[in-house]
Amino acid sequence: MGREGEPWVVMKTARAPSNIAVIKYWGKRDEKLILPINSSISVTLDPEHLSATTTVAASPAFHSDRLWLNGKEVSVEGERYKNCLREMRARATDVEVESTGRVIKKEEWSSLHIHIASENNFPTAAGLASSAAGFACLVYALAQLMGVKENYEGELSAIARLGSGSACRSLLGGFVKWNMGQEADGRDSIATQLAEHSHWDDLVIIIAVVSSRQKETSSTSGMQESVRTSPLLKFRAEEVVPKRIEQMEKAIKSMDFAEFAKITCADSNQFHATCLDTSPPIFYLNDTSRRLIGLVERWNRHAGEPQVAYTFDAGPNAVMFARNKEVGAELLKRLLYQFPPSSDADFSRYVIGDQSILESTGVT
Ligand code: ADP
Ligand code: DP6
Ligand code: CO
Repeated sequence: MGREGEPWVVMKTARAPSNIAVIKYWGKRDEKLILPINSSISVTLDPEHLSATTTVAASPAFHSDRLWLNGKEVSVEGERYKNCLREMRARATDVEVESTGRVIKKEEWSSLHIHIASENNFPTAAGLASSAAGFACLVYALAQLMGVKENYEGELSAIARLGSGSACRSLLGGFVKWNMGQEADGRDSIATQLAEHSHWDDLVIIIAVVSSRQKETSSTSGMQESVRTSPLLKFRAEEVVPKRIEQMEKAIKSMDFAEFAKITCADSNQFHATCLDTSPPIFYLNDTSRRLIGLVERWNRHAGEPQVAYTFDAGPNAVMFARNKEVGAELLKRLLYQFPPSSDADFSRYVIGDQSILESTGVT
């Protein structure tokens, strides 16, 4: 079947999880290539609860690239979408259309238009890394559609990075490091896995959705302003983060919860301090976020050593790590007691990976 013959559509669907940084990326040294001013470390979240699902389709009947996000058409004209599409097209190979046996030749991909439909199963642009899940998923789905073979480790991660920095970490599971890299072309600014999820499966992750509202300052523009105006950010990137990266890698390898918790909370707090140090200041946390911090800090102080860690991205929603299942169940009980459903500070949703913890607290 030729292009002028009966129209055909080829389609692929993929799902990619979000990730939460325990050492934050905040600030770029290159805006176009999305190269960070410091390395970062994250934990990839459970796709059941926090993921993007993206379907990509190509057909000679399509006249332009188009994107629907959560059911609404949005512009695909932005540089980030264009860069990801261009890099993927450049790596496309011959692909057979299953239903017809027709082969889409490598060269054809440059003129075929792509339609993209993506849905997030969690709040978009609310500080739960939707841009990470979204761009990782887009790149992965396009790789399936266009028959892109990774010819060196991390190539897809580097393309996802062109969509959103944090997305390069979502192509890998478990504990992930995004190395800031040295090269001007960003070749070595890629993510690598530090450990599988199963390496530390005692750890329980609980997410309290404080607000699903879209943030007022996007991560992209927030970090631009911080780089431009915050002296604390420069100090953080140069003097603080390199040491923390080393300490965090060790804590993860040796499953040292006390160290993991200490660094995770300190790094979240320093990131929000740089937001406050930005001019004009940026506020991502709200009163509920601060009450959560207080609850965890008091608990840890009483216990004598850390039981729970918290971290907040660019939004008010909390991601908490409990040292084991028992502590996870106790944390949920305390959260429900302190923030009862239908109080002014309740959570619209709790998201946790382990059903048995929900059952043990009677939460459904
Ligand atoms: P978040 O904290 O959720 O990552 P950001 O401000 O970093 O918020 O990014 C939000 C932007 O990411 C959205 O406005 C949209 O452009 C993009 N995005 C989010 N989800 C998707 C998706 N599933 N597919 C493509 N792009 C997405
Ligand atoms: C606070 O990756 O969303 O979540 O690269 O401009 O798309 P862009 O920003 P983004 O920033 C994430 C910032 C953060 C910390 C982190 O995920 O490391
Ligand atoms: Co983001």
